[in-house]
Amino acid sequence: MSDGSSFYITTPIFYVNDVPHIGHAYTEVAADVLARWHRQAGDDTWFLTGTDEHGQKILRTATANGVTPKQWADKLVAEAWEPLLATIDISNDDFIRTTEPRHEKNVQLFLQRLYDAGYIYTGEYEGYYCVGCEEYKQLSDLVDGTGQYEGQLVCAIHSKPVELLKERNYFFRMSDFAERLLALYEERPDFVQPESVRNEIVSFVRRGLTDLSISRQTFDWGIKVPWDESHVVYVWFDALLNYATAAGYGSDDEKFARLWPATHIVGKDIARFHAVIWPAMLLAAGLEVPRQVYGHGWLLVGGEKMSKSKLTGIAPEQITDTFGSDAFRYYFLRAINFGQDGSFSWEDLSARYQAELANGFGNLASRVVAMVTRYFDGAVPAAVEGAVTDAERRIRETERRVTAAADSAIDRLAVHEAIARIWELVDELNGYITEQEPWALAKDPAQAARLATVLNTAVRGIGTLAVLLSPVVPEAAAKLWTALGGAGTVQQQPIRSAWEWEGGARVEPLEALFPRIEVEATA
Ligand code: MSP
Repeated sequence: MSDGSSFYITTPIFYVNDVPHIGHAYTEVAADVLARWHRQAGDDTWFLTGTDEHGQKILRTATANGVTPKQWADKLVAEAWEPLLATIDISNDDFIRTTEPRHEKNVQLFLQRLYDAGYIYTGEYEGYYCVGCEEYKQLSDLVDGTGQYEGQLVCAIHSKPVELLKERNYFFRMSDFAERLLALYEERPDFVQPESVRNEIVSFVRRGLTDLSISRQTFDWGIKVPWDESHVVYVWFDALLNYATAAGYGSDDEKFARLWPATHIVGKDIARFHAVIWPAMLLAAGLEVPRQVYGHGWLLVGGEKMSKSKLTGIAPEQITDTFGSDAFRYYFLRAINFGQDGSFSWEDLSARYQAELANGFGNLASRVVAMVTRYFDGAVPAAVEGAVTDAERRIRETERRVTAAADSAIDRLAVHEAIARIWELVDELNGYITEQEPWALAKDPAQAARLATVLNTAVRGIGTLAVLLSPVVPEAAAKLWTALGGAGTVQQQPIRSAWEWEGGARVEPLEALFPRIEVEATA
């Protein structure tokens, strides 16, 4: 991807039936790192997130709580979903709610266009519906219930019984698009990633597509079907369109042309909606299909997807209150290979916090700044020609290599790999300081040129780290950048040439980037 090109990235829009847990925050953080990286690379970046507010799931929750669905959604958005973004330092450019007029109006426009083009017809459907997924299920998607649901068929994701529904609805001729979708997966092997999700999607479509019921008549919490107001639009059909309506579809053609198409980061449970239904909808409307759909793995608890409905959800603040938002962001993206499932444990989190963030990175930064303060009164020394050895050349080479390697990993959405590559520089700089022993050089006036060269190299190295790590740990990177006397903000530093930074004039005192934490035996 070249500098200045457009990069439009989205998270799924979150159901407002409940408050966020760390699984939701994981999706946000992953998309945020990608957005921040591209922004810092100079790409024309747009990062969208938001909330999914229609449908039976929200309606039922609101009713059970004695309020209207809109009141419920307003409360959850204000008290839980918007605050989540601050809790984990999300840099979204827009936040869309599906109850906003800019969305509702243009969902109707889109649907009317499909109707006029002959892609919608009236039909009857009988099937098993999971309200948790807001989806009709095939028998193959169901499993035998256990415990209180023994003897019943339950949704494999929610472990709750499905409901047998029979309705007369409007249908979208999705089956018309099976061949074109298969050709798309074939021509663009990275359209759906990772490979495991791609394979599942391809075999799903190969089994043949049925048409999709896209309206509901039995309740009215949704967007009205424009030509028949006794129906509301199926919540997924409505929700998927957020990516287009927020980008200006129907309201700002110029913006839409600039941003479209998008990279969608979603959990693997909803990859089918994004990699099958969504491109079929776009093809029917004559719009470009997404740039990419990435189905990441789940955070597991006891081997199962963490979820509020199973009471296994952990609130993000439980972690950020103790460890801070940077550690949250770093931990989940580093400890779990993006694309695979991962388990969360307090022990692993605190071990990585201590070893990697506090001792590995934080301590390195503090020591270097402290030595420049002590030995040079805070003035960053210049490297002395003739005192430069292979050790310094190796550090420069590593800076260059990890910058390029991390950028290429980000391009492949391999976030964990990008962080691992950058960490090679953390480790190498730590080894370099240990070997060069600047504290010993400082004792010997004959080694003044070496001392200056070593600390100059170290300052440049940690400056490079501040620039490269800014998308992942924005708070710590900003503090470090200020302490290093870098010009402007760290986010303004071109990330693809991070290694070119030559150091500022003076360092300022640096507080501990990752202070020591006394962790009680939590959960
Ligand atoms: N509203 C739909 C998405 C519509 S997008 C047009 C939805 N919402 S959700 O709130 O249930 O889930 C939002 C995202 O959170 C999904 O990507 C889902 O995979 C993710 N996660 C929910 N639980 C999760 C884990 N335990 N682990 C990782 N991600 C998880 O689906």
